[in-house]
Amino acid sequence: MHYLQTNYDTVQKPLFGSPGVGKPKHVLASSDLSPSDVRLTLDTAKLLKRARKFAPKPVTLVENRVLAMIFEKQSLRTRVTFETAMVELGGHAIYLTKSDIDMGNRESVADVAANLSRWCSLIVARLNRHSTLLELAEHSGVPVINALTDGEHPCQALADLQTIEEKLGPGKKKLTYIGDGNNVANSFAVTAAKLGHEVVICSPPGYECEDPVYDYPNVNQSYDPVAAVTGADAVYTDVWVSMGQEDEEQERLQRFANYQVNGKLMSKAKPGAIFLHCLPARRGLEVTEEVIDGPQSVIYDQAENRLHAQKALMKLLLDGVLE
Ligand code: CP
Ligand code: NVA
Repeated sequence: MHYLQTNYDTVQKPLFGSPGVGKPKHVLASSDLSPSDVRLTLDTAKLLKRARKFAPKPVTLVENRVLAMIFEKQSLRTRVTFETAMVELGGHAIYLTKSDIDMGNRESVADVAANLSRWCSLIVARLNRHSTLLELAEHSGVPVINALTDGEHPCQALADLQTIEEKLGPGKKKLTYIGDGNNVANSFAVTAAKLGHEVVICSPPGYECEDPVYDYPNVNQSYDPVAAVTGADAVYTDVWVSMGQEDEEQERLQRFANYQVNGKLMSKAKPGAIFLHCLPARRGLEVTEEVIDGPQSVIYDQAENRLHAQKALMKLLLDGVLE
């Protein structure tokens, strides 16, 4: 039997859980995935992408498993790709917003986690505070996946690296992230570092990534956009004002004004360099239209790969094969 056609009768890991009974593998931050976990996820994603393109019908790999999706913030890509991935795997997803469950107010985070663990096989959560995600995972008997917090966006990073490999091929690359050292940047830098790439984060002083990101010897900080982009194989940016930072908008627009990715800056990168953005984007602020809608942009490939990368991640977590 092919590896992807798992016979669940032979899987030893329980698919439902109670807090404290066995410790599920969570993906709360990019650092939770070992280099071989990242490699396996990207290879599986590539396989699933090919299967989806050429197979007459989706391969159902996790029949009848249910994914609970707790979302405290808005989403287009993350919600649709997780739901679609679960449907195509043969399972089902339940989308739970603040107006549905009001986690932390209507009932405690611990009770939400413990209840969901008795019915569902996976929990995906997009939460305002990373600390709430840690609390949710602590009380969950099933794997919890971070769908974005203020600190991390690990699923985005998997899709980003899948896209980079598709477009640029194997081998070490210079990957430059310009802008806010935010959730997207933290996860991107760590995931890329684990794959052996050279990563340059270029942000204004005070907006660097979290300290542990720079513990990787192949991640460096720059404050000079031209130097950071020179010779880059890929240039990545994200919004200057993330969800929940609306009160800081005016100050941020000023602080980031010199960090826009435009045609002049992109011309410093290698010929054939690609441009990435996790989306949603604010054209005319962090990136100009000529770049994001130009020939170097791979933004819709990135968005598509969210589906394949997350499908692979869920399959591997349900199989219990991640380290
Ligand atoms: N990139 C991303 O996570 O998009 P959404 O906020 O639309 O999910
Ligand atoms: N940094 C952005 C990413 C959105 C996908 C935010 O947190 O709003």
